[in-house]
Amino acid sequence: MSERTDVTVEPPWWKTAVVYQIYPRSFADSTADGVGDLQGIRAHLDHLEWLGVDAIWLSPFFTSPMADFGYDVADYCDVDPIFGTLADFDRLLADAHARGIKVLIDWVPNHSSDRHPWFVESRSSRDNPKRDWYIWRDGTPDQMPNNWSAAFGGKVWTWDEGTEQWYLHLFLPEQPDLNWRNPEVVAAMHDTLRFWLDRGVDGFRMDVIHGIVKREDLVDLPVDRHHSPDRFDEPAVHAHLRDIRTLIDGYPGDRTSVGEVYILSTGKVAEYYGQGDELHMAFNFPPLYAPWDAAAWRKRVDRVVEELDPRDAWPTWVLSNHDNPRHRSRYGSEARARAAAVLLLTLRGTPFLYAGEELGLEDAVIPKDREVDPAGRDICRAPIPWTPASDHGWGVDDPWLPWPPEPDVRNVESLRADETSILHLYRRILAARHASPALQAGTWAPLPSPPTVLAYSRVLGDDRRIVLVNFGDAPVSVSLESAAVVEVASDGAGEGAAFTGTLAADSAVILR
Ligand code: GLC
Repeated sequence: MSERTDVTVEPPWWKTAVVYQIYPRSFADSTADGVGDLQGIRAHLDHLEWLGVDAIWLSPFFTSPMADFGYDVADYCDVDPIFGTLADFDRLLADAHARGIKVLIDWVPNHSSDRHPWFVESRSSRDNPKRDWYIWRDGTPDQMPNNWSAAFGGKVWTWDEGTEQWYLHLFLPEQPDLNWRNPEVVAAMHDTLRFWLDRGVDGFRMDVIHGIVKREDLVDLPVDRHHSPDRFDEPAVHAHLRDIRTLIDGYPGDRTSVGEVYILSTGKVAEYYGQGDELHMAFNFPPLYAPWDAAAWRKRVDRVVEELDPRDAWPTWVLSNHDNPRHRSRYGSEARARAAAVLLLTLRGTPFLYAGEELGLEDAVIPKDREVDPAGRDICRAPIPWTPASDHGWGVDDPWLPWPPEPDVRNVESLRADETSILHLYRRILAARHASPALQAGTWAPLPSPPTVLAYSRVLGDDRRIVLVNFGDAPVSVSLESAAVVEVASDGAGEGAAFTGTLAADSAVILR
Protein backbone atom coordinates (compact mmCIF):
# COMPACT_ATOMS: atom_id res chain seq x y z
CA MET A 1 0.00 0.00 0.00
CA SER A 2 2.61 2.56 1.09
CA GLU A 3 4.83 1.42 -1.77
CA ARG A 4 2.11 2.23 -4.31
CA THR A 5 1.71 5.69 -2.85
CA ASP A 6 5.48 6.21 -3.14
CA VAL A 7 5.40 5.35 -6.82
CA THR A 8 2.50 7.55 -7.77
CA VAL A 9 3.19 10.65 -5.66
CA GLU A 10 6.30 12.63 -6.51
CA PRO A 11 8.08 13.24 -3.17
CA PRO A 12 8.99 16.86 -2.29
CA TRP A 13 12.56 17.78 -3.23
CA TRP A 14 13.83 17.70 0.35
CA LYS A 15 13.06 13.99 0.69
CA THR A 16 15.27 12.99 -2.21
CA ALA A 17 17.94 15.66 -1.72
CA VAL A 18 21.46 15.34 -0.38
CA VAL A 19 22.20 18.43 1.72
CA TYR A 20 25.73 19.80 2.11
CA GLN A 21 26.51 21.92 5.18
CA ILE A 22 28.76 24.93 4.71
CA TYR A 23 30.36 26.68 7.67
CA PRO A 24 30.91 30.03 5.93
CA ARG A 25 34.05 31.06 7.87
CA SER A 26 35.80 27.89 6.76
CA PHE A 27 34.64 27.19 3.23
CA ALA A 28 36.25 29.66 0.82
CA ASP A 29 37.65 33.18 1.01
CA SER A 30 37.20 35.79 -1.73
CA THR A 31 38.93 38.68 0.08
CA ALA A 32 42.14 37.03 1.34
CA ASP A 33 41.41 38.11 4.92
CA GLY A 34 41.64 34.52 6.11
CA VAL A 35 37.90 34.21 6.83
CA GLY A 36 35.56 32.57 4.34
CA ASP A 37 32.66 34.59 2.91
CA LEU A 38 29.55 34.45 0.71
CA GLN A 39 31.41 35.38 -2.49
CA GLY A 40 33.84 32.59 -1.72
CA ILE A 41 30.97 30.13 -1.58
CA ARG A 42 29.54 31.51 -4.81
CA ALA A 43 32.90 31.10 -6.54
CA HIS A 44 32.98 27.41 -5.57
CA LEU A 45 29.50 26.34 -6.60
CA ASP A 46 31.21 24.46 -9.44
CA HIS A 47 32.62 22.03 -6.91
CA LEU A 48 29.18 21.38 -5.43
CA GLU A 49 27.54 20.93 -8.81
CA TRP A 50 30.33 18.58 -9.95
CA LEU A 51 29.98 16.62 -6.71
CA GLY A 52 26.22 16.34 -7.24
CA VAL A 53 24.70 17.80 -4.07
CA ASP A 54 21.10 19.01 -4.29
CA ALA A 55 21.06 21.61 -1.54
CA ILE A 56 23.34 23.58 0.74
CA TRP A 57 22.74 24.61 4.34
CA LEU A 58 24.65 27.73 5.34
CA SER A 59 25.58 28.09 9.00
CA PRO A 60 24.95 31.68 10.25
CA PHE A 61 26.31 34.57 8.18
CA PHE A 62 24.20 37.22 9.94
CA THR A 63 25.43 40.35 11.71
CA SER A 64 27.20 39.10 14.81
CA PRO A 65 29.88 40.03 17.35
CA MET A 66 31.03 36.39 16.83
CA ALA A 67 31.19 35.31 20.46
CA ASP A 68 29.87 31.97 19.13
CA PHE A 69 31.01 32.61 15.55
CA GLY A 70 27.64 33.71 14.27
CA TYR A 71 25.32 31.69 16.52
CA ASP A 72 25.03 34.98 18.44
CA VAL A 73 22.91 37.05 16.06
CA ALA A 74 22.76 40.85 16.36
CA ASP A 75 20.56 41.33 13.29
CA TYR A 76 18.52 38.42 11.91
CA CYS A 77 17.92 40.24 8.63
CA ASP A 78 21.37 41.33 7.53
CA VAL A 79 24.75 39.89 6.55
CA ASP A 80 27.81 40.44 8.71
CA PRO A 81 30.39 42.56 6.80
CA ILE A 82 32.98 39.83 7.32
CA PHE A 83 30.83 37.57 5.09
CA GLY A 84 29.68 40.25 2.61
CA THR A 85 26.38 42.00 2.01
CA LEU A 86 22.72 41.18 1.41
CA ALA A 87 23.39 41.73 -2.29
CA ASP A 88 26.11 39.05 -2.10
CA PHE A 89 23.58 36.71 -0.53
CA ASP A 90 21.05 37.41 -3.28
CA ARG A 91 23.69 36.67 -5.92
CA LEU A 92 24.70 33.44 -4.20
CA LEU A 93 21.06 32.36 -3.96
CA ALA A 94 20.40 33.18 -7.62
CA ASP A 95 23.53 31.35 -8.80
CA ALA A 96 22.78 28.31 -6.67
CA HIS A 97 19.22 28.19 -7.98
CA ALA A 98 20.46 28.55 -11.55
CA ARG A 99 22.45 25.36 -10.97
CA GLY A 100 19.48 23.57 -9.45
CA ILE A 101 20.93 23.79 -5.92
CA LYS A 102 18.49 24.69 -3.13
CA VAL A 103 19.61 26.90 -0.25
CA LEU A 104 18.77 26.38 3.43
CA ILE A 105 19.90 28.93 5.99
CA ASP A 106 20.39 28.70 9.72
CA TRP A 107 17.77 30.27 11.98
CA VAL A 108 18.73 30.87 15.61
CA PRO A 109 15.45 31.41 17.48
CA ASN A 110 16.44 30.38 21.01
CA HIS A 111 18.74 33.31 21.73
CA SER A 112 20.09 36.47 20.18
CA SER A 113 23.38 38.24 20.74
CA ASP A 114 23.62 40.46 23.82
CA ARG A 115 24.37 43.22 21.28
CA HIS A 116 21.09 42.73 19.44
CA PRO A 117 19.16 46.04 19.75
CA TRP A 118 16.32 44.04 21.35
CA PHE A 119 18.55 42.96 24.22
CA VAL A 120 20.26 46.33 24.49
CA GLU A 121 16.78 47.82 25.05
CA SER A 122 15.67 44.98 27.27
CA ARG A 123 18.58 45.42 29.63
CA SER A 124 18.34 49.24 29.64
CA SER A 125 15.68 49.36 32.38
CA ARG A 126 13.19 47.14 34.17
CA ASP A 127 10.27 48.99 32.61
CA ASN A 128 11.55 49.05 29.05
CA PRO A 129 8.86 47.72 26.67
CA LYS A 130 11.30 44.98 25.58
CA ARG A 131 12.21 43.93 29.13
CA ASP A 132 9.99 40.86 28.83
CA TRP A 133 11.49 39.85 25.45
CA TYR A 134 14.18 38.02 27.44
CA ILE A 135 14.05 35.96 30.61
CA TRP A 136 14.75 38.14 33.64
CA ARG A 137 14.47 36.99 37.24
CA ASP A 138 14.90 38.55 40.66
CA GLY A 139 17.67 37.53 43.01
CA THR A 140 20.73 38.93 44.66
CA PRO A 141 24.22 38.98 43.13
CA ASP A 142 25.13 35.93 45.21
CA GLN A 143 21.86 34.02 44.74
CA MET A 144 20.97 32.74 41.26
CA PRO A 145 17.33 31.97 40.43
CA ASN A 146 18.17 28.28 39.94
CA ASN A 147 21.09 25.87 39.63
CA TRP A 148 21.09 25.09 35.89
CA SER A 149 24.43 24.79 34.06
CA ALA A 150 25.07 26.39 30.68
CA ALA A 151 26.03 24.34 27.60
CA PHE A 152 29.63 25.57 27.39
CA GLY A 153 30.34 25.71 31.14
CA GLY A 154 29.34 28.07 33.92
CA LYS A 155 25.73 28.73 34.86
CA VAL A 156 22.75 29.85 32.78
CA TRP A 157 22.39 33.14 34.72
CA THR A 158 24.24 36.42 34.39
CA TRP A 159 23.69 39.30 36.83
CA ASP A 160 22.95 42.66 35.24
CA GLU A 161 24.52 45.36 37.40
CA GLY A 162 22.48 48.17 35.86
CA THR A 163 19.01 46.76 36.56
CA GLU A 164 19.91 44.34 39.33
CA GLN A 165 18.29 41.22 37.93
CA TRP A 166 19.53 37.97 36.41
CA TYR A 167 19.04 37.04 32.74
CA LEU A 168 18.98 33.48 31.44
CA HIS A 169 21.28 32.05 28.73
CA LEU A 170 21.46 28.34 27.92
CA PHE A 171 24.73 29.06 26.08
CA LEU A 172 27.19 31.95 26.55
CA PRO A 173 26.38 35.11 28.58
CA GLU A 174 26.65 36.83 25.16
CA GLN A 175 23.65 34.71 24.01
CA PRO A 176 20.61 35.73 26.13
CA ASP A 177 17.57 33.48 25.60
CA LEU A 178 14.54 35.07 23.96
CA ASN A 179 11.23 34.77 25.81
CA TRP A 180 8.99 32.80 23.45
CA ARG A 181 6.14 33.13 25.99
CA ASN A 182 5.87 36.77 24.89
CA PRO A 183 3.69 37.10 21.74
CA GLU A 184 5.71 40.11 20.52
CA VAL A 185 8.82 37.93 20.38
CA VAL A 186 6.92 35.30 18.44
CA ALA A 187 5.70 37.89 15.95
CA ALA A 188 9.17 39.42 15.55
CA MET A 189 10.77 36.02 14.99
CA HIS A 190 8.08 35.05 12.48
CA ASP A 191 8.96 38.24 10.62
CA THR A 192 12.59 37.10 10.37
CA LEU A 193 11.42 33.88 8.70
CA ARG A 194 9.29 35.85 6.25
CA PHE A 195 12.21 38.15 5.47
CA TRP A 196 14.28 35.23 4.13
CA LEU A 197 11.37 33.32 2.60
CA ASP A 198 10.47 36.47 0.66
CA ARG A 199 14.08 36.61 -0.57
CA GLY A 200 13.70 33.09 -1.89
CA VAL A 201 15.43 30.72 0.53
CA ASP A 202 14.25 27.12 0.34
CA GLY A 203 14.13 26.53 4.07
CA PHE A 204 15.79 26.68 7.45
CA ARG A 205 17.96 24.65 9.74
CA MET A 206 16.54 25.59 13.14
CA ASP A 207 19.06 25.94 15.94
CA VAL A 208 18.21 24.46 19.38
CA ILE A 209 14.56 24.41 18.36
CA HIS A 210 13.48 22.09 21.19
CA GLY A 211 14.74 24.64 23.73
CA ILE A 212 12.85 27.78 22.77
CA VAL A 213 10.35 27.54 25.65
CA LYS A 214 11.76 26.95 29.10
CA ARG A 215 9.73 25.25 31.84
CA GLU A 216 7.77 27.90 33.63
CA ASP A 217 8.82 27.01 37.19
CA LEU A 218 12.57 27.10 36.37
CA VAL A 219 12.92 24.57 39.17
CA ASP A 220 16.32 23.40 40.49
CA LEU A 221 17.47 20.15 38.88
CA PRO A 222 19.71 17.34 40.12
CA VAL A 223 23.24 17.89 38.79
CA ASP A 224 23.03 14.99 36.32
CA ARG A 225 19.93 16.60 34.72
CA HIS A 226 21.53 20.01 34.11
CA HIS A 227 21.88 19.42 30.38
CA SER A 228 18.70 17.38 30.06
CA PRO A 229 15.49 18.20 28.21
CA ASP A 230 13.85 18.57 31.65
CA ARG A 231 14.62 22.26 31.25
CA PHE A 232 12.60 22.76 28.06
CA ASP A 233 10.99 20.37 25.52
CA GLU A 234 7.66 21.91 26.62
CA PRO A 235 4.25 21.37 24.97
CA ALA A 236 4.38 25.08 24.06
CA VAL A 237 7.35 24.38 21.75
CA HIS A 238 5.14 22.07 19.71
CA ALA A 239 2.41 24.72 19.47
CA HIS A 240 5.02 27.19 18.16
CA LEU A 241 6.26 24.65 15.65
CA ARG A 242 2.74 24.17 14.29
CA ASP A 243 2.46 27.94 13.74
CA ILE A 244 5.90 28.02 12.10
CA ARG A 245 4.92 25.12 9.86
CA THR A 246 1.79 26.96 8.76
CA LEU A 247 3.89 30.05 8.02
CA ILE A 248 6.45 28.13 5.96
CA ASP A 249 3.90 26.00 4.11
CA GLY A 250 2.09 29.22 3.16
CA TYR A 251 4.92 29.88 0.69
CA PRO A 252 5.01 28.16 -2.70
CA GLY A 253 7.71 25.68 -3.72
CA ASP A 254 7.96 23.16 -0.90
CA ARG A 255 10.00 25.28 1.51
CA THR A 256 11.29 23.15 4.34
CA SER A 257 12.70 22.99 7.85
CA VAL A 258 15.14 20.75 9.66
CA GLY A 259 15.34 21.16 13.39
CA GLU A 260 18.35 20.71 15.58
CA VAL A 261 16.48 18.69 18.20
CA TYR A 262 19.44 18.01 20.42
CA ILE A 263 17.77 15.36 22.56
CA LEU A 264 19.54 12.02 22.41
CA SER A 265 16.34 10.00 22.19
CA THR A 266 14.94 9.07 18.79
CA GLY A 267 11.48 8.73 20.37
CA LYS A 268 11.64 12.35 21.54
CA VAL A 269 12.99 13.52 18.18
CA ALA A 270 10.02 11.84 16.47
CA GLU A 271 7.61 14.00 18.50
CA TYR A 272 8.98 17.10 16.77
CA TYR A 273 7.43 15.99 13.48
CA GLY A 274 4.01 16.27 15.17
CA GLN A 275 1.25 14.81 13.02
CA GLY A 276 3.07 15.98 9.91
CA ASP A 277 2.33 19.53 11.10
CA GLU A 278 5.54 20.51 12.94
CA LEU A 279 9.10 20.16 11.59
CA HIS A 280 9.48 18.78 8.07
CA MET A 281 12.63 17.04 9.29
CA ALA A 282 14.60 16.78 12.51
CA PHE A 283 18.19 15.82 13.13
CA ASN A 284 18.51 12.56 15.06
CA PHE A 285 21.91 12.54 16.77
CA PRO A 286 22.16 9.06 18.38
CA PRO A 287 23.63 7.56 15.15
CA LEU A 288 26.25 10.34 15.05
CA TYR A 289 27.41 9.19 18.47
CA ALA A 290 27.36 5.47 17.60
CA PRO A 291 30.76 3.76 17.35
CA TRP A 292 31.92 2.03 14.15
CA ASP A 293 30.14 -1.19 15.04
CA ALA A 294 27.49 -3.17 13.15
CA ALA A 295 25.38 -4.03 16.22
CA ALA A 296 25.37 -0.42 17.43
CA TRP A 297 24.30 0.83 14.01
CA ARG A 298 21.64 -1.85 13.60
CA LYS A 299 20.14 -0.66 16.89
CA ARG A 300 20.20 3.01 15.88
CA VAL A 301 18.60 2.27 12.49
CA ASP A 302 15.94 0.05 14.12
CA ARG A 303 15.02 2.88 16.49
CA VAL A 304 14.48 5.22 13.55
CA VAL A 305 12.25 2.67 11.80
CA GLU A 306 10.26 2.03 15.01
CA GLU A 307 9.82 5.67 16.02
CA LEU A 308 9.57 7.57 12.74
CA ASP A 309 7.80 5.22 10.33
CA PRO A 310 4.51 5.00 12.26
CA ARG A 311 4.32 8.81 12.14
CA ASP A 312 5.21 8.91 8.47
CA ALA A 313 8.11 11.12 9.59
CA TRP A 314 10.96 11.43 7.10
CA PRO A 315 14.35 10.51 8.66
CA THR A 316 17.63 12.41 8.40
CA TRP A 317 21.17 11.05 8.67
CA VAL A 318 24.31 12.93 9.61
CA LEU A 319 27.81 11.85 10.61
CA SER A 320 29.66 15.14 10.92
CA ASN A 321 28.90 18.81 11.52
CA HIS A 322 30.45 21.98 12.93
CA ASP A 323 29.89 20.88 16.55
CA ASN A 324 31.52 17.45 16.64
CA PRO A 325 34.80 15.75 15.79
CA ARG A 326 34.76 14.61 12.16
CA HIS A 327 33.71 10.98 11.60
CA ARG A 328 36.93 10.32 9.67
CA SER A 329 38.75 11.02 12.95
CA ARG A 330 36.22 9.27 15.18
CA TYR A 331 36.25 6.07 13.13
CA GLY A 332 40.01 6.09 12.72
CA SER A 333 40.72 5.36 9.04
CA GLU A 334 39.92 6.48 5.53
CA ALA A 335 38.64 2.99 4.70
CA ARG A 336 35.99 3.37 7.40
CA ALA A 337 35.14 6.93 6.33
CA ARG A 338 34.59 5.59 2.80
CA ALA A 339 32.35 2.75 3.98
CA ALA A 340 30.50 5.23 6.21
CA ALA A 341 29.80 7.42 3.17
CA VAL A 342 28.03 4.48 1.50
CA LEU A 343 26.00 3.92 4.67
CA LEU A 344 25.09 7.60 5.16
CA LEU A 345 23.99 8.03 1.56
CA THR A 346 21.94 4.85 1.19
CA LEU A 347 19.82 4.73 4.36
CA ARG A 348 16.19 5.79 3.98
CA GLY A 349 16.00 9.52 4.58
CA THR A 350 17.73 12.79 3.80
CA PRO A 351 21.52 12.73 4.30
CA PHE A 352 23.44 15.79 5.47
CA LEU A 353 27.11 16.05 4.46
CA TYR A 354 29.52 18.39 6.22
CA ALA A 355 31.94 20.28 3.96
CA GLY A 356 35.29 18.53 3.82
CA GLU A 357 34.05 15.02 4.53
CA GLU A 358 34.18 14.39 0.77
CA LEU A 359 37.94 15.04 1.05
CA GLY A 360 38.26 12.57 3.91
CA LEU A 361 39.45 15.41 6.14
CA GLU A 362 40.55 14.59 9.66
CA ASP A 363 40.16 16.99 12.55
CA ALA A 364 42.81 19.69 12.70
CA VAL A 365 45.39 19.90 15.44
CA ILE A 366 44.91 23.32 17.06
CA PRO A 367 47.78 24.66 19.15
CA LYS A 368 46.66 26.19 22.46
CA ASP A 369 47.46 29.72 21.32
CA ARG A 370 45.25 29.33 18.23
CA GLU A 371 42.14 28.07 20.04
CA VAL A 372 39.21 30.42 19.48
CA ASP A 373 35.98 28.50 20.16
CA PRO A 374 34.70 28.66 23.74
CA ALA A 375 33.55 25.04 23.45
CA GLY A 376 36.61 23.36 21.88
CA ARG A 377 35.06 22.82 18.42
CA ASP A 378 37.85 24.39 16.35
CA ILE A 379 39.15 20.97 15.28
CA CYS A 380 36.25 20.32 12.89
CA ARG A 381 36.12 23.90 11.59
CA ALA A 382 39.52 24.08 9.88
CA PRO A 383 39.48 25.81 6.46
CA ILE A 384 38.79 23.68 3.37
CA PRO A 385 41.97 23.29 1.27
CA TRP A 386 41.14 23.90 -2.40
CA THR A 387 44.59 23.56 -4.00
CA PRO A 388 48.01 22.08 -3.17
CA ALA A 389 49.64 25.58 -3.12
CA SER A 390 50.77 26.97 0.23
CA ASP A 391 47.66 29.19 0.51
CA HIS A 392 45.39 26.28 -0.55
CA GLY A 393 43.31 28.66 -2.63
CA TRP A 394 42.65 31.14 0.20
CA GLY A 395 45.04 33.94 -0.78
CA VAL A 396 46.66 33.70 2.66
CA ASP A 397 48.90 30.99 4.06
CA ASP A 398 47.54 31.28 7.56
CA PRO A 399 43.75 31.66 7.73
CA TRP A 400 41.63 32.05 10.89
CA LEU A 401 42.27 28.44 11.95
CA PRO A 402 45.18 26.16 11.03
CA TRP A 403 44.77 23.80 8.04
CA PRO A 404 43.50 20.27 8.57
CA PRO A 405 46.08 17.44 8.24
CA GLU A 406 47.71 16.73 4.84
CA PRO A 407 46.38 19.78 2.97
CA ASP A 408 49.04 19.29 0.27
CA VAL A 409 47.30 16.11 -0.88
CA ARG A 410 43.88 16.36 0.75
CA ASN A 411 42.61 19.30 -1.24
CA VAL A 412 39.91 19.55 -3.87
CA GLU A 413 42.26 20.02 -6.85
CA SER A 414 44.54 17.07 -6.03
CA LEU A 415 41.70 14.69 -5.18
CA ARG A 416 39.78 15.62 -8.31
CA ALA A 417 42.82 14.63 -10.35
CA ASP A 418 42.82 11.18 -8.71
CA GLU A 419 39.92 8.98 -9.76
CA THR A 420 40.60 6.55 -6.92
CA SER A 421 40.16 9.28 -4.28
CA ILE A 422 37.44 9.48 -1.63
CA LEU A 423 36.20 12.62 -3.41
CA HIS A 424 35.43 10.58 -6.54
CA LEU A 425 33.81 7.92 -4.36
CA TYR A 426 31.38 10.53 -2.95
CA ARG A 427 30.62 11.66 -6.50
CA ARG A 428 29.92 8.11 -7.65
CA ILE A 429 27.61 7.45 -4.70
CA LEU A 430 25.70 10.67 -5.34
CA ALA A 431 25.37 9.79 -9.02
CA ALA A 432 24.12 6.31 -8.09
CA ARG A 433 21.54 7.90 -5.77
CA HIS A 434 20.32 10.28 -8.44
CA ALA A 435 19.91 7.42 -10.89
CA SER A 436 17.98 5.22 -8.46
CA PRO A 437 14.44 5.97 -7.26
CA ALA A 438 14.91 3.10 -4.79
CA LEU A 439 17.93 4.77 -3.13
CA GLN A 440 16.18 8.13 -3.06
CA ALA A 441 12.75 7.22 -1.84
CA GLY A 442 12.35 3.46 -1.68
CA THR A 443 11.49 1.16 1.18
CA TRP A 444 14.23 -0.04 3.53
CA ALA A 445 14.40 -3.61 4.82
CA PRO A 446 17.15 -5.46 6.66
CA LEU A 447 18.64 -8.58 5.05
CA PRO A 448 20.20 -11.56 6.86
CA SER A 449 23.96 -11.07 7.21
CA PRO A 450 27.02 -12.06 9.26
CA PRO A 451 27.33 -10.20 12.59
CA THR A 452 29.87 -7.61 11.40
CA VAL A 453 27.77 -6.70 8.37
CA LEU A 454 24.78 -4.39 8.05
CA ALA A 455 22.82 -5.52 4.97
CA TYR A 456 19.65 -3.97 3.58
CA SER A 457 17.57 -3.59 0.50
CA ARG A 458 16.08 -0.43 -0.95
CA VAL A 459 13.13 -0.98 -3.27
CA LEU A 460 10.80 1.24 -5.25
CA GLY A 461 8.65 -0.38 -7.91
CA ASP A 462 11.01 -2.32 -10.18
CA ASP A 463 14.07 -0.48 -8.94
CA ARG A 464 16.07 -2.39 -6.33
CA ARG A 465 19.46 -2.00 -4.65
CA ILE A 466 21.23 -4.00 -1.98
CA VAL A 467 23.72 -2.35 0.37
CA LEU A 468 26.30 -4.26 2.40
CA VAL A 469 28.49 -2.53 4.99
CA ASN A 470 31.24 -4.51 6.70
CA PHE A 471 32.17 -2.86 10.02
CA GLY A 472 34.60 -5.69 10.79
CA ASP A 473 38.38 -5.57 10.48
CA ALA A 474 38.48 -8.84 8.51
CA PRO A 475 37.07 -9.80 5.11
CA VAL A 476 33.71 -11.58 5.30
CA SER A 477 31.58 -13.72 2.98
CA VAL A 478 28.00 -12.68 2.33
CA SER A 479 25.65 -14.93 0.42
CA LEU A 480 22.83 -13.33 -1.52
CA GLU A 481 19.64 -14.85 -2.87
CA SER A 482 20.52 -13.95 -6.42
CA ALA A 483 23.46 -12.68 -8.45
CA ALA A 484 24.21 -8.97 -8.25
CA VAL A 485 26.53 -6.45 -9.87
CA VAL A 486 28.68 -4.02 -7.88
CA GLU A 487 27.49 -0.51 -8.68
CA VAL A 488 29.71 1.31 -6.19
CA ALA A 489 32.40 -0.09 -3.89
CA SER A 490 33.86 2.03 -1.09
CA ASP A 491 37.37 0.79 -2.02
CA GLY A 492 36.60 1.02 -5.75
CA ALA A 493 37.17 -2.74 -6.21
CA GLY A 494 35.14 -4.65 -8.80
CA GLU A 495 32.73 -1.89 -9.80
CA GLY A 496 30.71 -2.98 -12.81
CA ALA A 497 31.54 -6.66 -12.21
CA ALA A 498 29.54 -9.42 -10.52
CA PHE A 499 29.71 -9.35 -6.71
CA THR A 500 32.20 -12.04 -5.66
CA GLY A 501 30.51 -12.75 -2.34
CA THR A 502 33.41 -11.34 -0.30
CA LEU A 503 33.47 -7.95 1.38
CA ALA A 504 36.85 -6.51 2.36
CA ALA A 505 37.45 -5.29 5.94
CA ASP A 506 35.88 -1.86 6.65
CA SER A 507 34.25 -1.67 3.25
CA ALA A 508 30.80 -1.26 1.74
CA VAL A 509 29.11 -1.88 -1.60
CA ILE A 510 25.97 -0.83 -3.41
CA LEU A 511 24.73 -3.77 -5.51
CA ARG A 512 22.10 -3.97 -8.17
C1 GLC B 1 23.71 24.81 18.19
C2 GLC B 1 24.77 25.05 17.15
C3 GLC B 1 26.05 25.39 17.86
C4 GLC B 1 25.83 26.64 18.68
C5 GLC B 1 24.66 26.47 19.64
C6 GLC B 1 24.23 27.78 20.19
O1 GLC B 1 23.98 23.69 18.97
O2 GLC B 1 24.90 23.96 16.31
O3 GLC B 1 27.11 25.58 16.96
O4 GLC B 1 26.99 26.93 19.41
O5 GLC B 1 23.54 25.93 18.98
O6 GLC B 1 23.64 28.55 19.19
